[in-house]
Formats: sequence, C-alpha cells, structure tokens
Amino acid sequence: MPENEPSRTFYVTTPIYYVNDAPHIGHGYTTVIGDIITRWHRQRGERVWYLTGLDEHGLKVLRKAEANGKTPKEWTDHLVETEWRPVLTTIDAANDDFIRTSEERHESGAQKFWQDLYDRDAVYRGEFAGWYSVGSEEFVDEADVRDGEGEDEGHKVSALDGSRLEHITEDNYFFRLGDYQQRLLDLYESNPDFVQPTSARNEVVSFVKRGLKDLSISRSTFDWGVQVPWDTKHVMYVWIEALLNYLTAAGYGQDEEKFERLWPASVHLVGKDIVRFHAIIWPAMLMAAGLPLPKQVFAHGWLLVGGQKMSKSKLNGIRPDELVNVFGSDAYRYYFARAITFGQDGSISWEDIHARYHAELANGFGNLASRVAAMIGSYFEGALPAAGELGAAEQGVIATVAQAVADADAAIDAVAPQDALAAVWNIVDELNGYLTEQEPWKVAKDETQRERLSTILNTAAEGLRVLAVLLNPVMPKSSAALWGALGAESALGALADQRIDGVAAWGQLPAGTVVTKPPSLFPRIELEQPAS
Ligand code: MSP
Repeated sequence: MPENEPSRTFYVTTPIYYVNDAPHIGHGYTTVIGDIITRWHRQRGERVWYLTGLDEHGLKVLRKAEANGKTPKEWTDHLVETEWRPVLTTIDAANDDFIRTSEERHESGAQKFWQDLYDRDAVYRGEFAGWYSVGSEEFVDEADVRDGEGEDEGHKVSALDGSRLEHITEDNYFFRLGDYQQRLLDLYESNPDFVQPTSARNEVVSFVKRGLKDLSISRSTFDWGVQVPWDTKHVMYVWIEALLNYLTAAGYGQDEEKFERLWPASVHLVGKDIVRFHAIIWPAMLMAAGLPLPKQVFAHGWLLVGGQKMSKSKLNGIRPDELVNVFGSDAYRYYFARAITFGQDGSISWEDIHARYHAELANGFGNLASRVAAMIGSYFEGALPAAGELGAAEQGVIATVAQAVADADAAIDAVAPQDALAAVWNIVDELNGYLTEQEPWKVAKDETQRERLSTILNTAAEGLRVLAVLLNPVMPKSSAALWGALGAESALGALADQRIDGVAAWGQLPAGTVVTKPPSLFPRIELEQPAS
C-alpha cells in the first residue's frame, strides 16, 4: 500500500453490498480483512477511517423485492435491520461509518456530482441499444456476448462472468468514458500500485487497451434509484451512483473540512469481479470531475466451497453466524486472514477451520497463554517475577520478536494479512519452543534455580504481552482477555493504546504485576456440522 501522508487519514473502504439478500461469508470476508488492516493502523497511532455500507438501488434489488411482494424500500429496510447491521457485530467489525445509498447525504451528494459532470460536458444524451446483465448490473459489449448453454439455453450470456443478459433499448445519458483510455493507461503505467495485485492490474490494463466506449449511465424504465438532477424521468445507473458512496460518506458536498481530511481514499478493497468498475470507470469519473484519485484499488479472490465460488444462488452460501456461533468471532477473523492469501482464490471448509482452530489457536496460542499464567500462579503466587540475566535463549526470543513485529508491520502495508499472521506465529512457535527447551517445570523443582525460573517466566510473559498487542487487530476478544490476565492494563494502560512500533521494546511488564489465568481462550469444539 502506498505511504500515507501523516497529515491525512488512512481511509479504507469495502464495496457496498447489494441488499438483495442476507450477507454470506464472501461479504464478511472483505469486511473482516478491512477491519484487521484498519485496526492495525489504529494500533500504530494513525488517524483511520473505515467505511462499509450497502448498495440499495438497481434492478437486482428491485426484482428481488418484487418477487417477495415488497416495495424495494420495505425489502431493504427490513434486511438492513435484521441482517446487515447485525452482521457487523457478529464479525466484530469496528467500522467508523456505515452508509446506505438511500440516505439523504448520499442522494444529494450523488446529484451534486452528476450535475458537476453535466456542467463540465462529461455527460450527453443519446440512445442506448445493447445488452445488460442484471446479475452484475453491468452493460456488456457485443464482443462479450455469447450464446447460453445448459440452463441458459436460448439466452445470451456475458463472457465476463457468465451472467444472463437482457437486450435493452432506451433513451439514456452517456458518460464520455471513451475519452479516458489514454489517461487511464498512463495512470496504470506511472503508478503500478494503483491496481493490485498484479493479476488484477494486468486484467484491467488489457481491458482498457481493447478500447473504451462511452457508457450509458441512466435508466428511464424504472424509478428505483437516485433521480438525475436535470432530468427527473431518469434514475442513475446503479454503479455510477454506488461508487460515489466513497465520496458522499466522506463529506463530499456537505462537509468540506471532513472531505479534505478523508479524500482521497487510501485503499478500496474489492472482490476481483468488481475491479473493472473501481479501476476503470471510477478513476475516469473522478478525472472528469477534477477530483483526486484513490491511492489504491486492491482486489481479492473468491472464497471457494467444494472448489466452486461460494454464492447464495449456488446454494453453497454460508452465513457468517453459522461459523461464528461455533468458533467465535476471533477464530472466524483469524481463519479468513490466515488461511487465504488476500488477492487469490482460497478454498475453505469446516474441516480446515476446525483443524486450524485446534492446532493454531487452542494448542498453539491459547495453551501457551494458559500454561505461562498457570506457572506464574503456582511458582510465584501470581506475581510476575523479575528477569535475571538474559542468556542466549532469551536473546533469541527477543530477536525473533523484533523481526516478527517488523515483518508483520510490512505485511500489513502490502495488504497481506496472511503474511502478517505467519510472522506473528513465529513468536508463538518461538515461545513454545523456548518453554520446551527451558523446561521451567523442572527448573522449579530446584530451589537454587529460582532466578533462572524467574527469567524464563518473565521472558514468556513479555512474549505474551507482545502477542496480545499484535493480535488485538485480528482477535480483539482473546487479546483483551490475555491483556487482562497479564495484569497489563494497570501497569501499561489500555490495550488499544499500545503502539506497534514500541511493542518489541523488552521488559515493559513491571515485576510484581498480578498475573491470573485467562479464561480458556479457545475451548475445544466437537464438529457437528456436515462436511462441505
Ligand atoms: N454493490 C456492488 C458493489 C458496489 S461498490 C461501489 C456489489 N455488491 S455484491 O454484494 O454483489 O458484492 C460485494 C462484494 O462481495 C464483491 O467485492 C464481491 O467480490 C464479494 N463477494 C461475493 N461473493 C464472494 C465470494 N464467494 N468470495 C469472495 N468475495 C465475494 O458488487
């Protein structure tokens, strides 16, 4: 991720999700990763703004509401309150804002932006005849139209994502997207980080090189959308309205001071299916309006279940609470950050979550924390002993910790949470290895070795202190429990106030600190769910 200027806010967005149905873990995935990254930046002491929200307009939502005998407003209001807001609590997201595109701040901001485009002659009126995918709310070029097969027999489908197409003829407004081909190619060339990872960048570059046509941006055959300000018979094409949420939530057109502080966004996190909207249409719109471009668009891959993209329509959609109810929100967050390389497709399964839960969380981390606390309890009556002279083994732990902190921090900048967690786990493994080698339970039997025992347990407790801080962005609940068990709150202050850059400095927990056994952080779980 490109460097953020210190005076600016680190502003991260997720896509705004269509409210046609309840959220599944594909939606939860982007939100959790964005949450981990923004919590990490907050733990660095940076000013952060994390935005997520909902995309309520468009034909897909309208048709789903109609199919359920509801107006789109009734349908979305109900789903937002019963499903979409609660899921943020389920997955423990600490977003700073939540925008719905039906809110006044969004509608008026979107209208202001559109009027500005119109006044700048970036928009003109014309006739559209062509193909539209309701599934992906996308106009599809003739070159990308194919004959459907199987259940799509007799229909046209999009070569871009296989979705079924409808032919439409309408009087529409157009955005002069075709004017931006060269400027966009120059942008990708001069700023290779603008679209990441490289696979997404390559796709975008080759798409733009094929040539860009002007884009139909309004619809006049239905009215579920934001009205075009100068022609109220039209509503805005949902994408050209939805992308604007990143501006309207940041105060565009309403709060100039806030907008100045937040815009441009540091990174838009998106799934790879919507990278073209974010890396082609969006920057072109901003160029047309004379506004600064976001620093980066980072595309992740699919969650695959049984080798197939997980989706509601394929009936392999898993709700976040199905997993959280079994494993807890911390393990849920950990699993998606650790087991999948952000930017690539990743297979998930109940067995894999279950196995990692026990091996990495319960046995690797949780057990380490409870063993150390239990030994300080039984050998030192719960008062943290002071370290004596540090030997080679302790220096090894300290060096591993310093390296892990640096590596994890760099991985977060590279939007690679899986690497950040792998680096943090070097500390878990190092501490477990250290205890196995130093055998404090044997040292404890020899009264003359009291100082050595103190050094070992002090070193282990210091390692746990570092783990609590580094894992706080990923697993806030168990990190808070560990922080409490280490008695760190009274000695060092709130966990949220511990800074990543100072965390590796050794010897912060004062001797005498009251250490208690943490509640079982990751209790054993019998897997009852069917294998998927
Ligand atoms: N409303 C648009 C986004 C507008 S942003 C200005 C939209 N919504 S969506 O609900 O269909 O998808 C939202 C995000 O969920 C996309 O980034 C999409 O990639 C992601 N996912 C949907 N299914 C997914 C998986 N199976 N795996 C990972 N992410 C998936 O598109």
